[in-house]
This record gives sequence, structure tokens and C-alpha cells, in this order.
Amino acid sequence: MQKIVIAIDGYSGCGKSSTAKSVAKQLGYTYIDSGAMYRAATLHFLNKNVNITHTEEVEKYLKSLHITFQTNPVTHEQETYLNGENVEQEIRTMRVSDYVSEVSKLKIVRKELVSQQQRMGVEKGVVMDGRDIGTVVFPDAEFKVFMTADLNIRAARRQKELQEKGTDVPLEKIVQNLAERDKIDSGRKESPLIKANDAVEVDTSHLKFDEQVNLIVELAKKKITEK
Ligand code: DC
Repeated sequence: MQKIVIAIDGYSGCGKSSTAKSVAKQLGYTYIDSGAMYRAATLHFLNKNVNITHTEEVEKYLKSLHITFQTNPVTHEQETYLNGENVEQEIRTMRVSDYVSEVSKLKIVRKELVSQQQRMGVEKGVVMDGRDIGTVVFPDAEFKVFMTADLNIRAARRQKELQEKGTDVPLEKIVQNLAERDKIDSGRKESPLIKANDAVEVDTSHLKFDEQVNLIVELAKKKITEK
């Protein structure tokens, strides 16, 4: 059967990653979390005390940025590695979340990560989630989804996720972080978050997780058979 590229874009915290992961699993596709790549780049710059307003400094440290994904043999979950070190937990902390949108605004960072992402999708059979996947990374993707959800619902879901990982963060702080990221992601000059013309919009505010996954899998299967 022909393989396609599935691009899933949308706002922070509307369940893109977990949905994309499940869709990939059901289709036997590879899941690629592009947000994890921006997060790993952010962590790298924080660790190296890089002044991100200095383009040359950013350029220099981009050369020593190596991001890979590996499947954990026990949980079978995909984990992010920065220069050979497992950073899956660290890239999800508020320290990184609070700074990642600033790093994602940078043209040279985007250029580098977009070309890595395009290489990862050459063979097709991938589900990639992010902000600019259907517009910039894979404008020719056969199937594009734009996910949305109410801000307060997104915040409550993110809070539960963090709680499950043992971190208690007040709801207002999460609402503030998501709203701020929405604003930066949608308003930035480089590859702003916008719905591609040919993307299907899926509002997950009142959908159960399985419902949103099944909906996307069914639509994807249709696209695959049309190919
Ligand atoms: O999907 P996420 O919340 O883990 O993404 C983290 C940040 O990375 C988000 O605030 C915006 C940025 N990002 C981006 O600019 N482009 C992408 N393709 C993916 C993420």
C-alpha cells in the first residue's frame, strides 16, 4: 500500500502529540514530534548559556546540536536525545516551556530543524506534529489536520499530564503559558501557526481521546486508498 505524509498542526496543548502518536501506531507509521526538536534546541541553548539575540552565537551552537529519537525498549515510547543524552523528561519542564517559543522564532533555528524534519519524511509513512508541518515542512503532505481546543480545556489537560509526571503547576500558570505561546506562535514572522488551506480542522474540546484518534485514522485511511 502507498504511504503518505500526515501533517498535524495546532495550538499548544490540544493533544497533538498523543493523538499523532496513536494515529501513527494504528497505521504502522513513524511518529515524529517536531516540538520535541524545538524543545531540545532550547535546552541546548539554556545549558550552554547561549545569548539567543546573537545570531552568530546561535549559529555556532546549532552546529553542536544533534537531536535523535529512540524507542524505549520497556515502554516502547519514543524518547528524545540531545547529543546522545536522553532529555525526554527535561524538555517537558516549565523551564524549557517558558523559553521555547522565543527560540522557535529564530529563522536560523527553524531553517536547520525544518531541513532535518524534511529528511526524516523523505520515505513517507510518517505522522509529524507541530505548528508549520502542513504549511512549511510538508506543504505537499497528502493529509493535513489542524487541531484546536478551548484554552481552559487545554490547560486542564496539560495540568493533569504534569501531575501524572509528579509535578504540580497551578492552573493559572499553565493558562498563562499556553496563551503566551499561542500568541507568539501565531504572531511570529517566521512560519507562524496558521491553518493550511487544505487542512481538516478538528476541534478536540469535546471529543474523547479515542474519538479524535479514530476520526483522524479513518480520514487518513481514505487518503491512503485514494493515492
Ligand atoms: O508541540 P510543543 O508544545 O511541544 O512545541 C513546543 C514549542 O515549539 C511551541 O511553543 C512552538 C514550537 N514549535 C514550532 O515553532 N514549530 C513546530 N513545528 C513545532 C513546535
